[in-house]
Amino acid sequence: MHVDHIGVATADADALASLYGTLFDAPVAHEEAFDGLRFVFLELDGGSYFELLEPVDDDTQIGGYLDREGPGIHHVALATEDIDAALETARGAGVELIDEEPRAGAWGHDIAFLHPTDTGGALVEFVEH
Ligand code: CO
Repeated sequence: MHVDHIGVATADADALASLYGTLFDAPVAHEEAFDGLRFVFLELDGGSYFELLEPVDDDTQIGGYLDREGPGIHHVALATEDIDAALETARGAGVELIDEEPRAGAWGHDIAFLHPTDTGGALVEFVEH
């Protein structure tokens, strides 16, 4: 696996995209409104991304996160070529799954989250392009 993206919760994805674009030489690769959120993907050298997550609807999970924790790193996504096998491995290791089955994520990717209580406190997402 390799790091696909770092998910960052923000109240202003455009402002953060502009800043990160300048700081990290990371142009916008994809933008999308999906599932109550605005997504902006910034591409880094080597094919990894920042995924900026801005809530646009009330009662999103990211909106609740921003209210509780403030802006910042929300999750780390690891790319796999077989998300079903990755979930099976996690299940076999006794890790609680937030998503028992892969679901549709932004940019047409299949995604699934693992429960952070079983992964050292880190919210980990599997993503299959
Ligand atoms: Co993500």
